[in-house]
Amino acid sequence: MDASAAAAPGSSPGGLPSAATAVAEAPLLRLRGITKRFGPVQALTEIDLDVPAGQVTALAGDNGAGKSVAIKTISGLWRPDEGQIYWEGRPVDIEDPDVAADLGITTVYQDLALCDNLDIVQNMFLGRELLRGRVLDEDAMETRARATLADLSVTTVRSVRQPVASLSGGQRQSVAVAKAVMANSKLVIMDEPTAALGVAQTRMVLDLVRRLAERGVAVVIISHNLNDVFAVADRIAILYLGRMVAEAPVSAFDSQSVVDYMTLGRSERGVPGSNGDAGPAAAGGAGPHGLRAPEGEGAP
Ligand SMILES: Nc1ncnc2c1ncn2[C@@H]1O[C@H](COP(=O)(O)OP(=O)(O)O)[C@@H](O)[C@H]1O
Ligand SMILES: [Mg+2]
Repeated sequence: MDASAAAAPGSSPGGLPSAATAVAEAPLLRLRGITKRFGPVQALTEIDLDVPAGQVTALAGDNGAGKSVAIKTISGLWRPDEGQIYWEGRPVDIEDPDVAADLGITTVYQDLALCDNLDIVQNMFLGRELLRGRVLDEDAMETRARATLADLSVTTVRSVRQPVASLSGGQRQSVAVAKAVMANSKLVIMDEPTAALGVAQTRMVLDLVRRLAERGVAVVIISHNLNDVFAVADRIAILYLGRMVAEAPVSAFDSQSVVDYMTLGRSERGVPGSNGDAGPAAAGGAGPHGLRAPEGEGAP
């Protein structure tokens, strides 16, 4: 079965799906009842999560809540003990990172996995080098690397032949994201991308995250920085002790309710506006725990 048919997001900068289209379709990625144990530790308990194309989903939660285990499960580093992952509406078994890569999932881990001693072009094409005959096509790779960075409005990099070691933290994040874009990723997952960044660089990375979503890419961003979450997210999903305690469009939350869910696993503050401007994905609104979104009509 060829999963790459039909309008791959990110592959054609001209053919952007509108936000409304993206919301109406089944989510690109859907987790249902995912449970993961490590011996006696139950890291995830029956978590559900919807990740739509063209939107930024912030995955929040306190230390130890299960954020990293959740994204490692999506990325094929862990296999769930129970539950099912759906990709473009079909059940999938992401048994290893190669399967994730084939589906179009790119994960940018905190330590970034860039090679300091290589330059930007070499990093962006690592393992996917362009050849002309049997030699590396340096010119073509350089041109494409430059075009991709320009396309993402990454303007602060002076030369694509700079070693990555000489870049700032924000620039390194940008290179990692550009690499994901060049791989035609449909889902880009970023683990705390702004954790080590200053104000201006954080702004730059968050802008980049928004541009990715505007191209139709689904983005999952892990953060426990509330400013970042509200600046960049369309949807917020909050884990508390391995359970998904809230998942809804950003308009359903305020910063106090996010803090409540992160620290207590519940909020007294209701969910004003959860049926507001967010379209069909928000239909159904708040249940007794506030925010768990209902099964969509496209549920498998
Ligand atoms: N490889 C592992 N072996 C055992 N326990 C783990 C492992 N990875 C994570 N855990 C446990 O799972 C829980 C969730 O961890 P994690 O997903 O890293 O949290 P965070 O939300 O801070 O990213 C924690 O209790 C952690 O100790
Ligand atoms: Mg973590």
